[in-house]
Amino acid sequence: MRLETLEILRCPSCRGSLEVATRRAVSSSGRVREGLLGCASCQATYPILGWVPRMMIEPGLTEQERALAAELRGEVARGGAAEASPTQVVDEDWISGQDYRARIESLVRSKILYTEFSPKMRERAERDIEYRIERTDQKDKFVKTAESYLEGAPRSILDVGGGQGGAVTAFRKAFAAERSVLLDIDDEWVELAWLRDPETEVIRGDATHMPFRDEGFDFLTRRPRSSTSRSGKPVSLKCPVSPERGSSATTRTAGSSTTCTSPHLS
Ligand SMILES: C[S@@+](CC[C@H](N)C(=O)[O-])C[C@H]1O[C@@H](n2cnc3c(N)ncnc32)[C@H](O)[C@@H]1O
Ligand SMILES: [Zn+2]
Repeated sequence: MRLETLEILRCPSCRGSLEVATRRAVSSSGRVREGLLGCASCQATYPILGWVPRMMIEPGLTEQERALAAELRGEVARGGAAEASPTQVVDEDWISGQDYRARIESLVRSKILYTEFSPKMRERAERDIEYRIERTDQKDKFVKTAESYLEGAPRSILDVGGGQGGAVTAFRKAFAAERSVLLDIDDEWVELAWLRDPETEVIRGDATHMPFRDEGFDFLTRRPRSSTSRSGKPVSLKCPVSPERGSSATTRTAGSSTTCTSPHLS
């Protein structure tokens, strides 16, 4: 996590401002690989693990996230002050080339092949795996859809339920956005998303308890499983970042893509 991301992050529990309680491992450019965020208002804490802030309200943390948070809270308490624990400087271990492809494939396989499949289902799963490994970045159709609703290039982008990434990267590149953020609740998808695009800030969080300040983004996209009802009529969707404005303004649905372009510019 980059420290400047704190500007837009908020406590998902009480909406209070967050501080870095401690940083255990940081890169030379200041990105935090392991650390703890604390809410000044309600005292909730959120661990940063594998460069990704885990903005889940309990009991939503995984065991590994919970253990890290407990350990770091203990260190802060023993040190008595924020930043007390020794900070380790680590490499930004983004991987590339063959290693990158192998790691992506291994993560995708373990995610998709979670159970025994019939031969037919197995065939479909293999096609899905191939898509996720080879073609996830081919999201130009989403960019085209978004462009038709936008009046100018957005500077900051949030992809809600962005899963394994891909779309947010296409938006970031097409619009030369200064900030792109992906939010997903799934701890394995966020690892994959982070691996795919270290330029995008990947955050584990729940869209029903948004960990962002209001008006923190000027373009939001989400792709729910279905944006039409069974009768085929469009379902009215509210912008989860700014529900009040989003509902009355321009949250629009096109195909399976929903973009909110209400003018909640930062
Ligand atoms: C249909 S997938 C979309 C994946 C991605 N947007 C894409 O186009 O490849 C829906 C995603 O929403 C995430 N999700 C479901 N409920 C969520 C919630 N409450 N908060 C954040 N993400 C959620 C899932 O983990 C999943 O990755
Ligand atoms: Zn709080």
